[in-house]
Amino acid sequence: MARRPLMAGNWKMNKTVAEALALVSQLKSALLPVTDREVLVCPPFTALPAVAGILRGSGVMWGGQNMSEQASGAYTGEISAAMLKDVGCTHVILGHSERRSLYGETDVLVNKKTRVALDQGLVPVVCVGETLQEREASRTWDVLKTQLRGSLGGVDPQKVATLVVAYEPVWAIGTGKTASPQQAQEAHAFLRQEAKALYGPAWAEGLRILYGGSVKPDNIDDLMRQADIDGALVGGASLKAEDFIRIARFQRAGS
Ligand code: PGA
Repeated sequence: MARRPLMAGNWKMNKTVAEALALVSQLKSALLPVTDREVLVCPPFTALPAVAGILRGSGVMWGGQNMSEQASGAYTGEISAAMLKDVGCTHVILGHSERRSLYGETDVLVNKKTRVALDQGLVPVVCVGETLQEREASRTWDVLKTQLRGSLGGVDPQKVATLVVAYEPVWAIGTGKTASPQQAQEAHAFLRQEAKALYGPAWAEGLRILYGGSVKPDNIDDLMRQADIDGALVGGASLKAEDFIRIARFQRAGS
């Protein structure tokens, strides 16, 4: 089954509204028409309405970087799924390693958020990935299996069709150390195999698994040539129009 590539930018805590507008205006004019692939940007919450104003109708999608597991109420500082929908978000990144390591998010919490996102019609981009210490201790497969099951398990099988997984080895995030295409492929193939046990082989075959961790214009083509890599979740390089445009325009053919 051909999986449609998804090229996503995770801006993290960067860009004022004016900076965000400048960036998405460049992306929009360079990337149109977006046909054989999907392009997504995840700006900070404050820039979402402005970004929506530029991108609406363009085919380039926008999403949140995080979301509350609660629907509404006394949760100071939180943003709900309905609020993301309200500004036109189609996707939300959940369980990013920075949320896990710096803000204590657990698989249990990520699982709750995933269910809420799916219930509300948002596409969750659920992140998993091992730390350097875990990799060096040969615990990579255990960690990935635990995170995948913990974050995605027990969801209504009718609702998981749209869900996206992002494999982001923590040691490759923002470090300039990309996993080699072979290392990434090995992890993606493992995750797809594990996904079969969760919601069946047909779902696993159609599941998009993005790679994230120091994706750059000069490594994207090699990464995207791997059989089980269906897109990228790009941090640093998504902040520069030129770099993200080149990444979104990856080529699989040739060498
Ligand atoms: P990076 O970040 O591309 O800057 O390594 C990726 C991510 O954290 O999603």
